[in-house]
Amino acid sequence: MPQLPPAHELGFGKYFADQIFMARYTRQGGWVSEGVLPYQALKLDPAACVLHYGQALFEGLKAFRQKDGGFAIFRPEFNWKRMCDGADRLCMEAPPRELWMTGLVDLINRCVKWFPEERGTAIYIRPTLIGTEAFLGVRPSNEFLFFVILSPVGNYYSEDSGGVKIWVEKEYLRAAPGGLGATKAAANYAGSLKAAQRAKKKGYAQVLWLDHSRTAIEEVGTMNVFFRCKNEVVTPELDGSILEGGTRAAVIELLREAGHRVTERKLLIREVIEAQQKGELLEAFGTGTAAVITSIAELASDDFKIQLPRERKVTFQLFDQLSAIQRGEVRDSRGWMVRI
Ligand code: COI
Repeated sequence: MPQLPPAHELGFGKYFADQIFMARYTRQGGWVSEGVLPYQALKLDPAACVLHYGQALFEGLKAFRQKDGGFAIFRPEFNWKRMCDGADRLCMEAPPRELWMTGLVDLINRCVKWFPEERGTAIYIRPTLIGTEAFLGVRPSNEFLFFVILSPVGNYYSEDSGGVKIWVEKEYLRAAPGGLGATKAAANYAGSLKAAQRAKKKGYAQVLWLDHSRTAIEEVGTMNVFFRCKNEVVTPELDGSILEGGTRAAVIELLREAGHRVTERKLLIREVIEAQQKGELLEAFGTGTAAVITSIAELASDDFKIQLPRERKVTFQLFDQLSAIQRGEVRDSRGWMVRI
């Protein structure tokens, strides 16, 4: 049995299962699976395309222990499609659906002893696609490595119980129209580090990215964002610069079924501040695979600071409802869970 700390110390992405799934693509041979192997360092040519021109995409999804003792993955097809879209944008070759599913399922089946037991924990699945061909002219790679690793995880944000404090970033930009914002390209995360580091120094867990005009809200980078006002729940529309999250899509569905008016539209940071000043901003939360549903306690920037109300009724309801579906405690009427 692996030695894992108690659930509250697991954190996110600090422990890894001892197996990896790998498959390689070449133009001549297509995709060839290498199957599940012992977890290992990768051997890469120093001229590999990923190291110079950044052809790298990843995904993040979770598998959960079920109430009846089995295991199930939350919406693997959604993440596969997103990787396909990203691969198209980055001129990469995405793994076919069967290879993706076989890789995930075979790996998880070999690693069930790595599933933590407690509520609030899961196996985080990190499928990754990189260009491995060795060359230096700027062009797409003709060779790719697809691998999947697993990490037993607890909470992403340690501050979650009281909500996270988020810095509204007005200098740096995560994505621009026509760029990579809608893809889960590794480059998006590299570009986000400077702002996140600065925000952390000020005591903020992450940054809220604005659009290129620095007026409209986009996303946090680790999560999509939702604002509950008096008569509607608003989340920024998918404008090509925002990553569409599987949890975002699920939450929109759950909210609408519960009778909330959910609007996907352009949302200005000014509107959120005004709504808070008028007492009309009731809750704000982020959604993501790692973050699940994380309440937002404070939004601030150089020129404003707003505290969110502490009630968070809908945030907690959604968290409980989604967790119950993911753990097989209620019927999965939407077909989101794929049993292993
Ligand atoms: C996820 O929620 O899967 C993410 O990718 C967010 C972050 C850990 C990169």
